[in-house]
Amino acid sequence: MKICLLPGDGIGPEITESALRVLEKLGEFETEEQLIGGAAIDATGNPLPQETIDACKRSDAVLLAAVGGPKWDTTDPSAPRPEQGLLGIRKELGLFANLRPVRPVPALYDSSPLRRDRIEGTDLIVVRELTGGIYFGERGRNGDSAYDTCIYSVAEIERIARVAFKTARAKVISVDKANVLESSRLWREVVMRVHSEEFPFVKLEHMLVDNAAMQLVNAPRHFDTILTENMFGDILSDEAAMLTGSIGMLPSASLGEDGPGLFEPVHGSAPDIAGTGKANPLAMLGSVAMMLRHGFSLESEASALESAIDRALEEGLRTPDLGGEATTEDAVQAVLSNL
Ligand code: IPM
Ligand code: MG
Repeated sequence: MKICLLPGDGIGPEITESALRVLEKLGEFETEEQLIGGAAIDATGNPLPQETIDACKRSDAVLLAAVGGPKWDTTDPSAPRPEQGLLGIRKELGLFANLRPVRPVPALYDSSPLRRDRIEGTDLIVVRELTGGIYFGERGRNGDSAYDTCIYSVAEIERIARVAFKTARAKVISVDKANVLESSRLWREVVMRVHSEEFPFVKLEHMLVDNAAMQLVNAPRHFDTILTENMFGDILSDEAAMLTGSIGMLPSASLGEDGPGLFEPVHGSAPDIAGTGKANPLAMLGSVAMMLRHGFSLESEASALESAIDRALEEGLRTPDLGGEATTEDAVQAVLSNL
């Protein structure tokens, strides 16, 4: 079981270290570390060196921490950006399906900025298309204007719709902006056809993205599986993260047809707290659990790790993002002792 580790920037290296400590307890994994993002720009000038791509392709799973930071922030279209590393590796590995489960832990019901009675019982998953749409369409500048293009093909919509219908236990809510965007109208047509031809036994609802943003905080229990395109999924998954109390809690899995999956926390590189030992490693550890489950079919190890995380929270573990004072090290210790 070979894992390619991509620590990246900011708190990335610290939470990667936390992941390694937990992995050591769970099995024999071979690991190899490679550069991505700002760290790769500094070392090679390129946010995604060929060596990193090759190493990812010969591994069984990729564990990525976070990329980006003010040091590399620029609006110059010709300058390299750390995020290009992340977008590039998603594309290189064909990771079109991004799974972002949102399941607030009862111990954290009072850590969310939303009232307990709103979030209690929420258990949803965002199935985000990850290699198409406006993120990858043609873009550029024309004199004093700039443009980005949102483009989706039938085949791209079909394959992500199938992932969502297979993931759903009861209901898929497909989120689009079909009242305005042509790409959303195609999205809706294709989702309806895949549903009626292949998954008629799953309930399907369509929701406009602005309404979905509102309903996510108004009635999060209404959602089960959210199927949506790349940018809407990016935005809605950050919003949904706050149902769990902190963006520091959300793991994700990015999967393709075959080949290694990539597992990463939804949060960013938190440059403001990098090196202070205060980062919450739980989203990273949750991503390790998703890697064990989806990457290595180690279901019992995955659920053992998830319940160790839940128990640590029940016992009172709170990093600063959750309103407490626990350090990254405290969090790792708490999870390890429950494991
Ligand atoms: C995410 C991130 C990335 C995205 C950025 C860092 C490019 O926000 O994984 O949600 O927009 O996909
Ligand atoms: Mg995002």
